[in-house]
Amino acid sequence: MSRFVSAALCTVFVVSALSIDAKAAYNAAAGKAVYDTGCATCHKTGLMGAPKLGDKAAWAPRIAQGEAKLVSKSIVGFKGAKGIMPPKGGNTKLTPLQVGNATAYMVQQSK
Ligand code: HEC
Repeated sequence: MSRFVSAALCTVFVVSALSIDAKAAYNAAAGKAVYDTGCATCHKTGLMGAPKLGDKAAWAPRIAQGEAKLVSKSIVGFKGAKGIMPPKGGNTKLTPLQVGNATAYMVQQSK
């Protein structure tokens, strides 16, 4: 089962990585609304180990990875040392651009 899930996640990753424009300029202002409805549940309070909005110490090493990597991990989802970030925060209807905008907003508020 978990092997199947990893294989599925891998496929999703490859497919979405192809559709992500590494040079895309994300719009933090537009991302606020996405964050409020789709990401704040975990990222406002630190639920499930999520790095809190505005927590500079928690965000610094994450931001250091670069925006493209942060965005692709947010779209695909990942399991880190603190917990599990579900693909698109669990909001499968969000577009990659919306997730990118929300990530840009979170980064802007946390550095
Ligand atoms: C169900 C809870 C939950 C929701 C909802 C959620 N996240 Fe997360 N997110 C997490 C957790 C937990 C982590 C940290 C995982 C770890 O590092 O162990 C995380 C980490 C991240 C990171 C850091 C990535 C990295 O490489 O360190 C970004 C960026 C992020 N989330 C973006 C988002 C965006 C954008 C949304 C809304 C579309 C969102 N998250 C919604 C739980 C959530």
